Amino acid sequence: MSGKARENFGSRFTVVMALAGSAIGLGNIWRFPYMVGEHGGAAFIIVYVLCSLFIALPIFFSESILGKSTGKDTFGAIESVTPGTKWKNEGYIALLGSFIIVSYYSVVGGWSVDFLVRSLTTGFAGESLEEASGIFTSMTSSVWEPLVTLTVFLGITAYIVGRGIEKGIGLFTKVMMPLLFLMIVVIVIRSCTLPGAGKGIEYLLKPDFSKIDGPAIAAALGQGFFSLSLGVGCVLTYSSYMRKEENVVDTGVWTAVFDTFFAIMASFAIMPAVFAAGLEPSAGPSLVYETLPVIFSKMGRVVPIIFFLSILIAAITSSISMMEVQAAYLVDQKGMSRKKATTLLFCASWIVGALCAVSTRIFSFCDFISSNVFMMIGAFVVAIVVGWKMKKSVVRNEFTNNGTGKGAGAVFPVVWFLVRWVAPIGIVIIAITNLL
Ligand code: TRP
Repeated sequence: MSGKARENFGSRFTVVMALAGSAIGLGNIWRFPYMVGEHGGAAFIIVYVLCSLFIALPIFFSESILGKSTGKDTFGAIESVTPGTKWKNEGYIALLGSFIIVSYYSVVGGWSVDFLVRSLTTGFAGESLEEASGIFTSMTSSVWEPLVTLTVFLGITAYIVGRGIEKGIGLFTKVMMPLLFLMIVVIVIRSCTLPGAGKGIEYLLKPDFSKIDGPAIAAALGQGFFSLSLGVGCVLTYSSYMRKEENVVDTGVWTAVFDTFFAIMASFAIMPAVFAAGLEPSAGPSLVYETLPVIFSKMGRVVPIIFFLSILIAAITSSISMMEVQAAYLVDQKGMSRKKATTLLFCASWIVGALCAVSTRIFSFCDFISSNVFMMIGAFVVAIVVGWKMKKSVVRNEFTNNGTGKGAGAVFPVVWFLVRWVAPIGIVIIAITNLL
């Protein structure tokens, strides 16, 4: 490590915006709305909230405690609490997992660059469904277009990470996240006031509990993990830059509340518009890039610009959190300068991203292996290290800020039980369900 003091996020607001920025991303805008539709509307939202509360949030706290109490990157943090054991190898899982995710995530982030430029230049006006879905197909089948947008997206990501914690990640997220909230509110209002939007609102709100089965619960938990950025060190690394007076409970709860609220808002931004246009809500992953442009073609020029700008901002505030996991390792453990580390990471992610951009099979493989293997192992190890390897008193002190956290002392026994038992067992069951 260099002789300089390690940087930190200057204020509580910045920490929460950075963590919320990591959490809120393509997972909220792109995946959540269509999963809600597929798995029983409001019933799925209830299951999702329960899974987040009882399994995802305890893991979030655990990662946060590891990061904040040690002030180190993933590798260094686990090494300090379990010195001389093999647990620190979790650091490699986090590095590899975050590396793979940021690479394919940047391909999708690149699509939003493409669509933003398109909505700023030609717009979508007057396009039919065929023409609008044609845009997506021709974009993804072009060789150079996804590579150019990938380069732009990864370039912005690396630039922000390269500027450091306060002047890069902190500054970017604290300016962009409030803007993102404003923009999504505008789209929700526009979407819910379209003629025929009522059916979409009903689709989201009517609970259909008959659709809640094993796979639906596994999907809810998987989505909760992805959405809260768990298992690959993002929360741990960001928390390592928290000042000592900050509190892991407050920041964790606020992040989860913002994240869930945003996912629900995104559903209300998208589904009513889909129904109003008489289109299929179950289009799945292509919904945002194929179905929505059609709807936008009837909405004038401004809404598509706001929409794709929102996706782009949400995606960048997430991708920087993944690259930071690796940057922190290279800076803290390998003594590299931040600039050199981010240049190297840009090049490496670009290579894997480019492979994902040209091959759907590589893309799906990266998606599958990261969410079903790396994130699950990572989250499991974090629960074991915090729940079984760290001293209970140390964890309690961190959780309650040495006994000063209001109410934290009272809920600690519940969280402790969730971290030790419910989360690890839940993760194993879900991981097996998903892999079968
Ligand atoms: N949570 C982000 C989203 O919803 C994506 C993300 C950021 C992520 N960091 C992560 C997903 C770490 C898994 C693991 O889009």
